[in-house]
Formats: sequence, structure tokens, C-alpha cells
Amino acid sequence: MDALLALDQGTSSSRAMVFGRDGRLLAVAQRELTQHFPQPGWVEHDANEIWEGQLACAREAVAKAGVKLSAIGITNQRETVVLWDRKTGEPLHKALVWQDRRTAAFCETLKQQGWEPRVRELTGLVLDPYFSATKLRWLLDHVDGARARAERGELAFGTVDSWLLWQLTGGQVHATDASNASRTLLYDIRRGDWSDELLALFGIPRALLPEVRPSTGPFGRSEVFGVPITGMAGDQQAALFGQAALQPGQAKNTYGTGCFLLMHTGEQPHASTQGLLTTRAAQTGAQPQYALEGSVFVGGAVVQWLRDGLRAIGGSGEVEALAQTVPDAGGVMFVPAFAGLGAPYWRPDARGALLGLTRGTTQGHIARAALESIAFQSAAVLAAMNADVGPAGRLAELRVDGGASANDLLMQFQADLLGIPVLRPRVIETTALGAALLAGLGAGLYDSPGEIGAIWQLDRAFEPRMSRDEAGERLAHWDRAVRQVLAP
Ligand code: G3P
Repeated sequence: MDALLALDQGTSSSRAMVFGRDGRLLAVAQRELTQHFPQPGWVEHDANEIWEGQLACAREAVAKAGVKLSAIGITNQRETVVLWDRKTGEPLHKALVWQDRRTAAFCETLKQQGWEPRVRELTGLVLDPYFSATKLRWLLDHVDGARARAERGELAFGTVDSWLLWQLTGGQVHATDASNASRTLLYDIRRGDWSDELLALFGIPRALLPEVRPSTGPFGRSEVFGVPITGMAGDQQAALFGQAALQPGQAKNTYGTGCFLLMHTGEQPHASTQGLLTTRAAQTGAQPQYALEGSVFVGGAVVQWLRDGLRAIGGSGEVEALAQTVPDAGGVMFVPAFAGLGAPYWRPDARGALLGLTRGTTQGHIARAALESIAFQSAAVLAAMNADVGPAGRLAELRVDGGASANDLLMQFQADLLGIPVLRPRVIETTALGAALLAGLGAGLYDSPGEIGAIWQLDRAFEPRMSRDEAGERLAHWDRAVRQVLAP
């Protein structure tokens, strides 16, 4: 049997999954990842914990599956910055996570200097601390001797994909794929190369950077598992692939730590006027592929906060039951701007708020408002996307995946707000599935990306039940709450 191992290194956890060639999930292993919050707005991970946890999960999943592997695919939380010593493989600092806001002031300075249009033109992104470049610069400026060592070629920078690849190949390969490169703010998405202009702007020595490759093909060989690594993509682009959204106009929303709505735009980049990002989709051939993306920073993480911050639930799985203890959110609005607000607002300085509290407010209302906030944020992104692509391109349905897509209450509310069917596939771990399929394609197990379409299977379609008037009122209420949060 041909089996594929997907390493899915997310923000909240490391996961490894083994899939059959037909897309069937054979085994899974998962470990939660420690989150470090050294200061308000700062978020760090231990890169060694990432690697060790990921390796342990991979070993466990492979042992459980009891099959022989054909290839490995890597997918990852994007943008997070790891800086390590090329000789020892030791990280110089904790990884700076995509949710970390410490470089907000520097981004603002560049904006004031008028750099945003040029940065957007080259990278498809906006000047926000979300992306890697300003974080890498921060490390070079704050870790003793780092800049001089980087200039001498002694250090390597990578997003988490590169870090895992480096470890898996025993320090032999320093590479990334186009979808991950396109999240750094250093990559010219049209030319398909690191941009000297941006390297100069952010003060990043070229010697730090990984080689950029397509998302399928040879990436090296894993020493531990004795098989080639033949697929790699950022988690959201991998999910787009795993959802078989390979044609222009097809879209998916992934409910992970954050929520990421991506629409494939084919071989043409679509420049947004609505606060969305233009990014590289997984590249399966010589031609670059593009997507339009709306990134919501706090999705499932709001449930984690109910568990760890508020201690309202003992485990994430309890949130639906708690939310069901009340018929509605009782007028409570929860704007979970814990890490600022991403698309379409782009306000790194925003902070979260609970609005509309009364003496009658219970944990149930707050849990319900927390779940609803995930759907409201996704609805704001979808509205921006529809406005960007115009009436002919409006989304007629939305494919969903990720852990929180298992939550029926949330999915029904999402369909109600959007007014279009929300389609949940049988495999909701679509990010990992996408990485496995990319690896399968890279290893020659599939003849073409077209074969992937046959693997996608519907679990449940959520049809909108709410009247458009009511949905409009709910969305207007959300907009008012966001405006309150954004007001100076
Ligand atoms: O851009 C950040 C994204 O890649 C993180 O994904 O699944 O960890 O929320 P996730």
C-alpha cells in the first residue's frame, strides 16, 4: 500500500497523519505546543520543542498506521520566524510567532514613509507585523552578534517548514516552497525570487535565506524515516489544495488557531482593493499559482482563551455544550482582537473587547459570543472577497475545514450569516491531507492535480436558515462592535 506521512506543524499543536493514496486517514498523533507570552502582544514558540514534538508525533503515527511510507509532506504555521546556527543547528532565540505584534511601531514608520504601495506591489501583502521580515530584523537587531554572524553566512533563517526540513534532512537542505516564501514580505511573488529591494528595506542579508522551490518535487530525504520529502506548503495553501480548490474562483475557509479564507485565482495574481492579500498558492508545476486571502488572527484561539484565560471550560470540546446552554448570545459581542485585527481591518494596535454585558450575562453567553465572533470575522472577510472579485465572481458556496469546523453550531451560524451553503468534507484535517497529496504528487503517486478532485467527499452541507434581514442586522451589530474597538 502507498502511504503518505503529513507533518502538520500548526500554531497550537504539532500533528502527524498518515494517509492512504485514496486520501483515507490511517493514523494520527498530536501534541499541544507551549505558547510563550513574554510581554503583552508578544508570542513565542520554542523551535526545539516544535521539532522534537513533531518528530515524536511522526514516529507515533507511523507506528500506529503500521504501513510502509512512500513520501513525506510538510505543512506549517506560516510567517513564524526561526533563526538558527548553520553549524550546530541551535536556534539563537525562541521563534517569533506570526501573532506577535512587537514590530508594530516599525511597520507604522515604514507606512508613514510611504512604503506600503511598493511593498504591496512586490509581495501582495501589507505592512503588518504578521509577516516574517520585520520579526527577522528584530532578531538580528536584538540577539547579540546576530547581524554580523548573519552577514558572514553563519546563520540560517526559515519559516517553520524550512526548520523542519533542515532537521529532517540532518542539516543537509535549507529550502522553502513558494507558498511559504510569499508570506515573508521578502519575496517578489511575480518574479518568483527574493527581492533585493525588500532585503535592503528590511536590512536582511541574503545569506540567511533558504532556496525557494515549487511545492511538489524533491526536497531531500528524511534520515529517520528513510523516505523522500516531496511536498511542502504553508498550511492555508495546503488546505486549499486538500479541499481540491484548484480552479480559479474556488475557495475554502480553515478554522484553526486563526481563520484563513483563500480563493484560488489561477495563474494570475489578483490585486485586492478591499484589504485582502495576494499570495502564492501551492505550486505543482512550472507555473506559479495565486490566491486571494483573508487572514483572521484569532479563530479557534478564542476557544483556547475560554479554556486557559477565563477557565470557563475544561477542554475545547466543551465549548459547544456551554454555548448551547443559552438560546443566543443575549446581546453580547466578543471582538477577539487579542493579536490586533487582520483582514480586512489591519490594525495591529487593536485589542479585544467584550461588549453588551448585563447582570444576566452568563458564561454560556460569552461562549456563544466567542463562537459567533469566529463566524463574524469570516463573514467580514468573505464580504471583502466578494467586493474584490465583483458580481460575476461572488462565492456561491464555501468549503470549510480545520478543528472548529466540526462544531455544528458554528457552521450553521456561518451559513446563516453568509447566506450560502457551507460544505464540510469528510476529512476536516484538510491541511494535513493537502500536504500528503502534494507529497504524493511530488513522488509520482498521482499523475496530475486533477486526480485530487476525486478524493474530496462531502460530509455535510449547512444551508442558510436565517432571513437575510436578520443576518444583515447581526452583521451591522458586529460592524458597530468592531468600530468601537478601533476607535482611538
Ligand atoms: O498564517 C498563519 C497560519 O498559517 C496559522 O495557521 O492553523 O496555526 O491557525 P493555524
